[in-house]
Amino acid sequence: MPSLEELAKTAMEAASAAGSIQKEKFGNPLNVDAKMTDDIKLEADRLCEKAIIDTIRARYPAHAIMAEESGSAEGSDYIWYIDPLDGTVNFFYGIPYFCTTLACYRKNPAVFLGDPLVGVTYAPPTNEMFIGMAGFGATLNGKPVQVREEPALEESLLVSAYGSGGNKLRFTREVTLSLSEHSRKTRNLGAAAYDMANVAAGRASGFVEYGVNAWDVAAGKILVEAAGGAFFAKPVPNGKLAVVASGKNIHAQLKAAVDGFEV
Ligand code: IPD
Ligand code: CA
Repeated sequence: MPSLEELAKTAMEAASAAGSIQKEKFGNPLNVDAKMTDDIKLEADRLCEKAIIDTIRARYPAHAIMAEESGSAEGSDYIWYIDPLDGTVNFFYGIPYFCTTLACYRKNPAVFLGDPLVGVTYAPPTNEMFIGMAGFGATLNGKPVQVREEPALEESLLVSAYGSGGNKLRFTREVTLSLSEHSRKTRNLGAAAYDMANVAAGRASGFVEYGVNAWDVAAGKILVEAAGGAFFAKPVPNGKLAVVASGKNIHAQLKAAVDGFEV
């Protein structure tokens, strides 16, 4: 059974490999695989995912994998959730707000995503490596981090995005905008995993988004919980999730708003 340290080392190596590709490609002409009405797929997404999966497979060939670009692979008791490039649209438009994110969980069908082990999110533009180890805290470039505990929602900075899926704009109107009326500011930044890492690091007070995927939030869940915060996910249509990650003081209010949204 691999230790948390061993899993974290592999995750960091994989994130660094993907990060190197992103640094090399960012700001240069990009090969576009597909343009959809509300998304873009790049060659860089695939190259980063291959680098991550190759690194994991070299050490743990039997582990299961769920990755954004190549789907799922069955495996042993452990599962890796991988988003090789979160914030692809920012990356395409040249906005330096993107990251690579991956997490390892022990499979447990009774628990959402499984039992958390290690989550790593790496943001190449700022060279920030966020590491969460379940039960052992979270670090940013080796220094311990903690979520912000706000005295009230009114003191909060929330991060979000318009999200994905059929109900995304109704969710934005009914939940995000309503929460933003009760918070100091709401920022719409466009990389869910980096948003959650910023909550873990005590920069943003909370994250709320509709229509994200397991691989967008798997590392963020571990990071935020390991940094003393709380996480909530509600299934919404098409296998997606509506998610809250925040400090504990404002969590109940955010969770009630998201849970009360009728899909
Ligand atoms: C996207 C980002 C964005 C969120 C979208 C995701 P991608 O991930 O996390 O913040 O609003 O729903 O799909 O496609 O850039 O990996
Ligand atoms: Ca992605």
